[in-house]
Parts: sequence; structure tokens; C-alpha cells
Amino acid sequence: MSKPGTIYLDNHATTRVDRRVIEAMLPTFEYEYANAGSVTHRLGQAAQELVEHARSEIVFTSGATESNNLALRGYSLRRGAGHLVTVQTEHLAVLAPLQKLEQVGFRVTRLPVQGPTTACPGLVDLERFREALQPDTVLASVMLANNEMGAIQPLAEICQLCRERGIAVHCDATQAVGKIPVDVEELGVDLLSFTAHKFHGPKGCGALYVRGSGRRIRLQSQIDGGGQELGRRGGTLNVSGIVGMARALELALETRAEDSARMAQLRDRLYRQLQAKLGELPLNGPRLDAPGERLANNLNCQFPGLDGHSLMVGSPQLALSSGSACTATSSEPSHVLTALGLDRDQVRSSLRFGLSRFTTVEEIDAASELLADSACRLRALGSHTAP
Ligand SMILES: Cc1ncc(COP(=O)(O)O)c(C=O)c1O
Repeated sequence: MSKPGTIYLDNHATTRVDRRVIEAMLPTFEYEYANAGSVTHRLGQAAQELVEHARSEIVFTSGATESNNLALRGYSLRRGAGHLVTVQTEHLAVLAPLQKLEQVGFRVTRLPVQGPTTACPGLVDLERFREALQPDTVLASVMLANNEMGAIQPLAEICQLCRERGIAVHCDATQAVGKIPVDVEELGVDLLSFTAHKFHGPKGCGALYVRGSGRRIRLQSQIDGGGQELGRRGGTLNVSGIVGMARALELALETRAEDSARMAQLRDRLYRQLQAKLGELPLNGPRLDAPGERLANNLNCQFPGLDGHSLMVGSPQLALSSGSACTATSSEPSHVLTALGLDRDQVRSSLRFGLSRFTTVEEIDAASELLADSACRLRALGSHTAP
């Protein structure tokens, strides 16, 4: 249930916590609340057991931003110097730490993605990726699924190219975990970030997978303190968050296949209805009928001649966005859509829709009505693209 009267289609930004997750977390506030580091007493041991139940080769963090920082800075600074490769459409939680690393002497290549008229819009060209690797490349960071246009990168192939050259690979899998299969062995990735609040878990809890429990992939800690997490991340463990994240993951794995099929149907219905009412709306990113290339819960399209922000203002019952929540207050056009090759007007006319397992067909039908009404009012006013 969204806030009464609101249709929530901003699930790339965050998701509603599943009630079953809340139920799993509740005992950790009232009864099993001890510090997981307090192994001197029974409650502490119980908390530690809860955490151990949730972990394998995992460092628990406060979310994907921290996981990305730990992976990128922690690995690169430990290596000392060299070349790093990434992609222009990464989230700022990857691009910003890489920029900081550049300021302390690392060289960073930011690869473009393929444009709208190519066969694979939004995806990295593997040949260009291979050509970008240099003898002193130490790390590549490539997201699995994009938060604006849902593009799924060919990560297994990227990892293969890197493994042959002894280059470690970090993946920001924030939008992918719980939505598509993510198997670190099949992908061959060394470091992988994710966060609970994107798959109906609580905010403020994430994780970094580190291949080989940190014996091969060594990280310099970015938060020093009591030596928790094998010295890689100081701070009292967020037991409630970790239990909630584990439960949310369990639920996502149980229903992922059927949820994806339903969300893809609803997403396609939304796009069909919008185009039936408003005419052609160019799609941003990969084709909708290529499930291996695009997330089932993502739609991102242009409303030619209209301003996305005005469209949203004109339909206040809809909760959606024109791009990443982290840059929603910035007047800069989306760097993701710009990297895709869109001009300023095309970027400005674009909206992003993010569905979840809770999205209903009634909500989709109402959303297309509301947006079409908003678009017609704007057209009638003649206030097309805002300044
Ligand atoms: C791709 C991607 N990476 C990282 C983040 C940051 O995650 P968190 O809010 O857990 O720090 C987000 C969230 O918007 C995201 O979509």
C-alpha cells in the first residue's frame, strides 16, 4: 500500500518494506537486541548467530554507497597506484569515489555506452572495453543493472576479459539483486555491492561481497574502529538491518521469476497505453522485449515536446522521477541519458518508471490516465519544454 491516493512508481529510488521483513526484524529491537560484538554473554552470542546466519563472504555496510566506496577506495588504495576502468552511466556512488582516486594519482577511463540507434543501446561495447584495459589496470567497476534505464551490462564477459589479465572487477549490483539472477561464481566478479532498501528491505543496511573472504582481494578499511568485519569496517553491526536484509533477500529469491514476469507485463501495458494516448514516445535504453538486457521493472521514455518535470507536477498523485533520486535536486541533465547520446531537450522530456512486486494493474491504468491528462493540459497551455 502506498500513501493513500499515491501511485508509487519510483521503485528504483527505494521500495516499500515488506511486512514479512518487518516481522522478522521486530524481535531484534525488543528481545534479541544485544551487540553482535558482545560475545561474552548469551544475548550477544545470539545476535552474532543471527548475523552469521545472514553472511558468507560479506562485509555488512550502511548501504550501497558505502559498499562502493569500500570496494573502490579500499582496493585501489591498497594497490597504491595504477589505472581504473568504469562506464559513464555508473551511479554517482561509483563515479564520485573514482574522481577522488583520480585526484590522488590514479588514472580513470570512463567508457561510453552504445547509442540509441545501435543494436544494444545503453550497453558497453566489449571490444571498446577490451581496448581500454592497460598493462597497469588494477580494477574495473561496472554496474550490473542501471538505475535510470534498466540496462543490464554483459558482466560475465567483462569479468572474463579482466580475469585473463589479472584485473579485479567490482560490480554495483544495487538495482539487480532481487530482480535478476546474481551469482558471483557465474559472473566471476570479485567485489559486489548491494543494499536492502531496493528489494523491500530496510534502509541503512547494505553489503559488499568480497571474493575469498578478503584473502585474495585485500581492502584497506575506510572506517576504522573496533576491528569489526575482520578489520575491514569498524562499527557496531546493524543486527536488525542485517536480519531484515536477509529476510528480504529470501523473499525476493522465492518470488523473483513470477514477480519479473508480472512486472514486465505491467510495464509493457503502461508503455502501450501511454503511446496509445499520446503518440510515439521514444524509449531510452535497451528494448523492452530483451529481458537479458533490461530490467523487467524499468521503463524510461521521452515525451517529445514536453517537460518531464512539468508532467510530474501536473500529476501529483503519481510518485515517479525523471532520474536518479540522488541527483533529483540538481539542475544538471541526467548524466546517464546524456551518455546514451540524448540531447538536452530529449533528456528533459524523459521520465523514469520503476515498478515493484506490489504494483497493481489498477495503478498502471490510473497512472497512464493521469499522465496523459497532464500531457494534454500542458499541450493545450502550449507550455511544452520548460526553460
Ligand atoms: C545503482 C545504485 N548504486 C548505488 C546506490 C546507492 O545506494 P544506497 O542508497 O544504499 O547508498 C543506488 C541508489 O540510489 C543505486 O541505484
